[in-house]
Amino acid sequence: MKMILAPSMLSADFKELGKEIQTIEENGAEYLHFDVMDGIFVPSISFGMPVLESIRPATKLVCDAHLMITEPIRYIEAFAKAGADLITIHLEACEDVEATIAKIRACGCRVGISICPETPVASLENLLEQVDMILIMSVHPGFGGQKFIPESLDKIRELKAMLEKKGLDTDIQVDGGIYPHNVEEVILAGANIIVAGSAVFKGDTAQNTRTMMEILKKYE
Ligand code: DX5
Ligand code: ZN
Repeated sequence: MKMILAPSMLSADFKELGKEIQTIEENGAEYLHFDVMDGIFVPSISFGMPVLESIRPATKLVCDAHLMITEPIRYIEAFAKAGADLITIHLEACEDVEATIAKIRACGCRVGISICPETPVASLENLLEQVDMILIMSVHPGFGGQKFIPESLDKIRELKAMLEKKGLDTDIQVDGGIYPHNVEEVILAGANIIVAGSAVFKGDTAQNTRTMMEILKKYE
């Protein structure tokens, strides 16, 4: 399966944002993971549509918007217009998840669905056919730089088995606490889209991106 690195912009140096994005693109990343937080679904507030709209013309990376917001259906159209290619919503944040998925499709974007660490994989079972990507959170959403929750590996394996049983090869994304020292476990469990914030943007962004990409390429 194609392995993709999705650096999380949340950990980038915002005063050098254009340069940071160019660096990850030049060194092999394919997605730009864009963490949107509303201060309600998660405790923190990050950034929103105006930031996306301004970086969109500056990059060819796939814009992967991870909406950590309550009732994301209210903002799907706005994020699509701002330039998101793929919009991920949280199962826990939606009153009507199927309507939210339909709204993302109607706006012409690919659909991702995410679950928090305490939400069981089984709760996604009837939605698997409707989405392009499933995001297993391996930290509690809200902040970068947290420690990987090891139980996430079992959730990835369980999801992979569930998809295989249904004959689906849907992308599995994993987000939170992933570094060169543990990314292989995550891949071996079944994930193919790796979000990494601190691991990419803390220190030398170019070298960090290359290091992660070298590992990912081994599994293609
Ligand atoms: C957490 C975000 C993550 C986070 C990842 O709420 O969804 O994307 O920024 O950062 P690291 O890789 O530092 O855990
Ligand atoms: Zn994220």
